Order: sequence, then C-alpha cells, then structure tokens
Amino acid sequence: MMPLDSSELIKARERLLSGDVVAIPTETVYGLAASIESEAGLRRIFSLKQRPFFDPLIVHVASLKEAQSLAREWPPLADYIARTFWPGPLTLVLPKATRVNPLITSGLDTVAIRYPSHPLALDLIRLVQTPLAAPSANRFGKTSPSCADHVRSEFPEGDLLVLDGGECEIGLESTVISFTLNSDGNDLIQILRPGGITEEMLHEALKKWFKPATIGRASSEASPGHLKHHYMPSVPLVIVGTQADIGLTPNECDRIRSTLGLNEIKRAAELRLSKDATLAARELYSEMRRLGESGADIIYVRQNSENTDTSPSGLWQAIWDRLTRAASLNLVP
Ligand code: TXA
Ligand code: MG
Repeated sequence: MMPLDSSELIKARERLLSGDVVAIPTETVYGLAASIESEAGLRRIFSLKQRPFFDPLIVHVASLKEAQSLAREWPPLADYIARTFWPGPLTLVLPKATRVNPLITSGLDTVAIRYPSHPLALDLIRLVQTPLAAPSANRFGKTSPSCADHVRSEFPEGDLLVLDGGECEIGLESTVISFTLNSDGNDLIQILRPGGITEEMLHEALKKWFKPATIGRASSEASPGHLKHHYMPSVPLVIVGTQADIGLTPNECDRIRSTLGLNEIKRAAELRLSKDATLAARELYSEMRRLGESGADIIYVRQNSENTDTSPSGLWQAIWDRLTRAASLNLVP
C-alpha cells in the first residue's frame, strides 16, 4: 500500500463534489463511490460499471447518526445489530427516508446502509460530509476487486481516481440483511446476501437480545442485484466433486468440454483456497483474477469436506455463495 497523503483525499473530495466518482477501499472490497447528493455522480456509477438501473446501491456512512438520517424507520433490533457490528461488513436494508434518491434504491422503498471500518473510507465520507453510494468497483457481473490494482485493471480507460488502501481485510462483500416479522409475530432477520458477518455471529448477537428473534435466508429475488451469474472471472469457472487430487478426470473434462462448447481444454487451472476460511475469503477474488489471466482455458475448484460440507458454515457460506454464482458449470450432484 502506498502511503496516502491528504492531497489525494482532497482531490477525491473535489471529484465527488463535482459529480464524478472515486474508487475507495473498504474492509470488504473496493467500492466505486459517488456522493448521494450528486445525481450526475450516481449516474456515472451505473454507466462506468455497465450496471442495470434495477440493481440498487449500498450507501456508506461514517456514523450511526448519519445512518439513521437515511432511514424512515429505525427499529430497536436494527439499532442493536448496528451497534453490535458497526463499523464493519454488515449492510442493513431499511425503509428509506425521502432524502435518498430513487436512483440509489432502484425505485424501491428501502435503502441499504453500511458503516464500513476502513479508515480511508471513513476519512473521505467525513471530508465530503455526505454519505457515499458505492457498489463494488467492478464491471457488472464480474469478479469484485480486493486491491487497488484490481480496480485499475477493471477500468483501464479514463482517469478514475483510485484511493489505495491496500489489500482488503475481509476480501468479500458485506452481509446484507433486512428486518421483518415471522408468522408468530416475532422479529425475523433475513439474510439477503451472506458475507463478512456470518450467520453464527448474528445468532450469537441475538442470544443477548431481550426478545425472541430468528434468522432466515431470503430467496434471491429479495436482493435485486444478487443474480445467479455474478462475480464471474474472465474464463469459465467449474465446480467439480471430491475426487482424488490429480487434476480433472477424463470424464470431468468431457462433460466440461461438451457443456461449455469448448473444442479442447489445453490448460485447466485449479483454484485452491486455504483451509482457513478467513484466509480463503481474502484469497478468493485475487486468485480468481490471477487464474483468469494465467492463460488457462478454464478454472476449476473442488468442493470437498475441507472447504465445505452439505451446509457450509461460517465464512464458507459466503465463499460458496460467490463460487456458485461465479461458476459457469457445477458438476457436483
Ligand atoms: O461490501 C460491500 O457491500 C461492498 C462495499 C463496496 O461496501 N459493496 C457491494 O455493493 O457489494 P454491490 O452493489 O456490489 O452489492 C449491493 C447488494 C446487491 O446485491 C443489491 O441488490 C443489494 O445489495 N441491495 C442494495 N439495496 C437493496 C435494497 N434496498 N433491498 C435489497 N437489496 C439491496
Ligand atoms: Mg458487486
């Protein structure tokens, strides 16, 4: 990481205030940020990313008070969860206040809010004095960036200002949750996207909440942008089963060739992740990019008892959510 002098931050502030976008580091992944008060900046996010307008943005704040100013309702459970996990890799979906531009929310009545922990992101939000809307700084559907070089290679044309905050500590996106009631009338937290704050961590927090509350996994329609084909590397990614550690079997090669319509597979690169989930999350996007650019025709990843089980737990849940969406083919029955 380059030491960042304050002139970079001042330049970033000027750009944001004049309706431009700036790439910012967060503890999860890099974001492509615009001031929520700048319609030009918000539009530029969508055009630069080639992102469809139906996919709403996350608004980043630098205090709890700023978060509250974006929401029309601030339920007690949301307040407790925010105080437990913020600043950090958790995004809360709440009814939106009128100040939130419908461009940010894709016309929905709710807004996604996150208080990140990266000091540079917080410095910039405080300097600009408005919350920043920021999706991950990658082209729509592609692998998210976990360091400044990823962002630069994603947007090589133009003069995008990238604040270099080093490698992202978490390496994959925030957990997105919303708040509803279940059929008994008790609080229900819905996980719209698994991420840096795990289901287990949310369960731990709920044990100390004074009322009964449960956690559910939402259907993918509840998160408009969380599509099946997402996070995709530059060559096809294939998920294969638990066979011995000897490369692809002839049978797997045949199935991959015929399904993906490839004439031949000259080189297949294996995506190997650390056994430790925290490290694996940090490596995931860098490795997907590196292997995508390594000259291999395909990337494959083995789903086995070391990196998952039938129901992955902890951070593996988010890692396999991303791998499944990034995959062009899944050979695991
Ligand atoms: O860690 C992160 O969350 C990163 C960093 C930059 O903060 N941001 C990020 O943004 O991942 P993006 O745009 O790539 O993903 C935002 C997700 C999408 O799946 C979107 O559908 C969902 O949040 N989302 C945003 N607003 C929503 C809303 N009102 N209701 C439901 N889902 C929403
Ligand atoms: Mg994204």
